[in-house]
Amino acid sequence: MHRVMTVYGTRPEAIKVAPVIRAVEAHPELESVTVVTGQHREMLDQVNEIFGIEPDHDLDVFAHGQTLNGLMAKVFAGLDDVLVSEAPDAVLVQGDTTTVAAASIAAFYRRIPVVHLEAGLRSGDIDSPFPEEANRRITTQTTALHLAPTPTSRDNLLREATDPATIAVTGNTVIDALLHTVAQDVPFSDERLALLEKEERPVVLVTTHRRENWGGAMEGVGRALGRLADAYPGHTIVLPAHRNPVVREAVLPHVAGRDNVLVTEPLAYGEFTRLMAASTVVLTDSGGVQEEAPSLGKPVLVMRENTERPEAVDAGTVRLIGTDEERIVAEVSRLVDDPAAYAEMANAVNPYGDGRAAERSVAAIAALFGTGERLADFGS
Ligand code: UD1
Ligand code: UDP
Repeated sequence: MHRVMTVYGTRPEAIKVAPVIRAVEAHPELESVTVVTGQHREMLDQVNEIFGIEPDHDLDVFAHGQTLNGLMAKVFAGLDDVLVSEAPDAVLVQGDTTTVAAASIAAFYRRIPVVHLEAGLRSGDIDSPFPEEANRRITTQTTALHLAPTPTSRDNLLREATDPATIAVTGNTVIDALLHTVAQDVPFSDERLALLEKEERPVVLVTTHRRENWGGAMEGVGRALGRLADAYPGHTIVLPAHRNPVVREAVLPHVAGRDNVLVTEPLAYGEFTRLMAASTVVLTDSGGVQEEAPSLGKPVLVMRENTERPEAVDAGTVRLIGTDEERIVAEVSRLVDDPAAYAEMANAVNPYGDGRAAERSVAAIAALFGTGERLADFGS
């Protein structure tokens, strides 16, 4: 048996590793060990609960408002003991958070091969997204097996002279998680959302949290939402608010007191994906939402200056609009007012996966140990 230790810390990592953990558990030659750092708390626990994963270890590093260096130091300290006691044959990390950068360096220092899921994404700007672009580049340097979600991400790695034999193109496991979850048809527990769905009110779904948008840019997002709510009383803006108080303090005062703005706590994944499927427009700065919404045929306006996920932009379903208040108001208004502009963007496209990413990932991990063959690359 070969022991695969999955280390993760935030909501999106939990969603994206869940299908892989399940596939590792089901593989006859692999054994799964799960470690959460606890970088997120409620938002992480919520996902583990939904996917029925009880982590073997919890480093419990969570603290409100901690610095990136403080967080990194805690992950190094906590994970080292677990790496020694569990002695895994590989450490799997996903994405580009501070948990990922710390865990991959810690495993590398212990000479344990790192498997990087969602490898090779690049915005090309080290300052944006911050600190994720640096985290993912750091992780690439320590990685033995790069699981690139798309041919574009593989090409980014090849351009950096990564050994082609160490790259497999798998698709993004977020699509596995999405297809699995949407099929379960989870009802809304929030009555306000159930009513919106019943009355078929048009919904603009909004999520925001990016660190580089904290402060003035996020205040502008809040003001834009307030103006849109006033301009379109027949629409409802639904904002499942990230737990970060910095985000809440910047945005929520600008939308307060409006009947057609619905602010909720972070939604359980099944309810969030149901809401996304029922929405008219998605306005977001999230990485995962940029990948999921296109496969549900939803036009996505991305409040960022650049993206490491160009595939759906190229397909026409995602548009980068930045965080300027006037531009946000204009772009949402255009989709609401102009059916032709709407129809042009509302295409169901699946550039990020076909629901078999976990299967390809686990085959590639097993092949790393000399057990079995890799599957054909996604998109080849
Ligand atoms: C982190 C990741 C980011 C990822 C995002 C997903 C880093 C540097 N950032 O950003 O890449 O896109 O997660 O959401 O790794 N909080 C809670 N409860 C929770 C989660 C967060 O209260 O369950 C609050 C805490 O006050 C915490 C703050 O949010 O200090 C920020 O959390 P943190 O993980 O540092 O950054 P995110 O902005 O969530
Ligand atoms: N999500 C969720 N509930 C919410 C908001 C988002 O389950 O209330 C899911 C969403 O479907 C996606 C992931 O969380 O899979 C995105 O997380 P986030 O935006 O926090 O992080 P990012 O993807 O930007 O790193």
